[in-house]
Amino acid sequence: MSDEEERGVARGIRAAETSVFPRFAELAYPEVVRGEGVRLYTRDGREVLDACSGGAMVASLGHGMKRIVEAAAAQAREIAYVYNHHFTNARQEELARRLLDTAAPEMARVRFTSGGSEANETALRLARAYHVERGDSARFRIVSPAQSYHGATMGSLALSGRRSVHGHYAEYLPAHLHIPPSTSRDDPTGEAALAALDRVLEEAGPETVAAFFCEPVSGAALPAYSPPSGFWEGLVERRDRHGFLICFDEIVTGMGRTGSWFAYQQLPFEPDIVTCGKGLGAGYAPLAGAMCRQHVYDAIASGSRLFDHGHTWDGAPLPCAVGLAVLDVLVEEGLVERVAERGPSLREELEQALSGLEVVREVRGRGFLLGVELVDPRDGESPLPAAIDAAALVDDVAFDHGVLVTSSHSSPDGFTGDQTLLSPAYNASDDELAAMLDRFAAALAEVERTVKQKLAGAAAPAGGAA
Ligand SMILES: Cc1ncc(COP(=O)(O)O)c(C=O)c1O
Repeated sequence: MSDEEERGVARGIRAAETSVFPRFAELAYPEVVRGEGVRLYTRDGREVLDACSGGAMVASLGHGMKRIVEAAAAQAREIAYVYNHHFTNARQEELARRLLDTAAPEMARVRFTSGGSEANETALRLARAYHVERGDSARFRIVSPAQSYHGATMGSLALSGRRSVHGHYAEYLPAHLHIPPSTSRDDPTGEAALAALDRVLEEAGPETVAAFFCEPVSGAALPAYSPPSGFWEGLVERRDRHGFLICFDEIVTGMGRTGSWFAYQQLPFEPDIVTCGKGLGAGYAPLAGAMCRQHVYDAIASGSRLFDHGHTWDGAPLPCAVGLAVLDVLVEEGLVERVAERGPSLREELEQALSGLEVVREVRGRGFLLGVELVDPRDGESPLPAAIDAAALVDDVAFDHGVLVTSSHSSPDGFTGDQTLLSPAYNASDDELAAMLDRFAAALAEVERTVKQKLAGAAAPAGGAA
């Protein structure tokens, strides 16, 4: 009997039963048939509470919101698609204006894309173009944290410092520079990360560095972790000294997830380029974007006047109409404010629900982006052995308990252990949030029992990152 069968994991569609090219041929994928608010319904009759906005921190307004569906249908009837190369359109114009006015007044321009990887590709090119336009063509290198994820296209994958996601595509990826993440475990002050930044700047030559690229609060790669203020202060000082740009990937954190429209608004400085995605279309259309401040735009506007980079669906009327409807809901229902107000107590409730579990090392996060770091219960400090793959265990057991969460199997990266992310919809009711936490706590208690059984007789804890 396999581990999955032992845990009684529901059967879904297996690779042999589908024409779809599955992500993991070993897995059976449950088939979702309907979503309503934070509830997902599967073909085999399950009702699952969605504590992760569709699994990828996207559906931040829940599922099946009629108002957004109707806005999409109305737009599709009027005009769904034209190519940005030939036309602009009213929805793109309006969304750009309202996004910058309402959500990101510090930014001057936005280029819309479909997905987060495309937005980060756009940011990457923009950072390079900015320097070239200013006659500084030696700058091309990017520095980013080693424990990060910025997308699946080759350019964005190269930005992602995680060795485990590079896999056998490393040959295709330009060798950007990575520094260890300043985690509370290894670098609580951020000094080690800054020293590593100085080292890579020195080795590469600071005059060759185009940008520092990171998430202000991590999503999947290091759930809900934010570097300490000392790191940010040091980073800004180095930007001023060396002339590189700071690019923030806010694909996860943008559009209210951390309790402000953008997470950078909680920091005492402004990044030069910011990407957003996921919550911008909130799961009703693929929609993302790269925004920049005035000086970045000016470099191109007063230079070649050409930023000739784009994807087929950039700024099309249908996704932009969805983005406008999402923005309307966020504003009219005061949902960014709700996340800001409710986030701290939600985190406390999560801490409370998990208290006493020896497999939990830390609960952290801001707004409705919460992270739980797992630990080897034998010493309460070391990451769990990679072979246990606690991340997959948590997701499966949680699903069995009727709650959807997303975990990251970070141990193979060498910096941190398994972690779980919770990112419920901003409009989840207090009762729904409480039910999510109850189910998750029950799941983690079961995970703890299983982990202890697996560890019995295993080698002693590693005493550091696995
Ligand atoms: C922080 C971050 N950046 C970029 C991406 C890539 O976005 P997409 O999958 O829409 O291309 C993701 C996806 O999970 C992400 O979490």
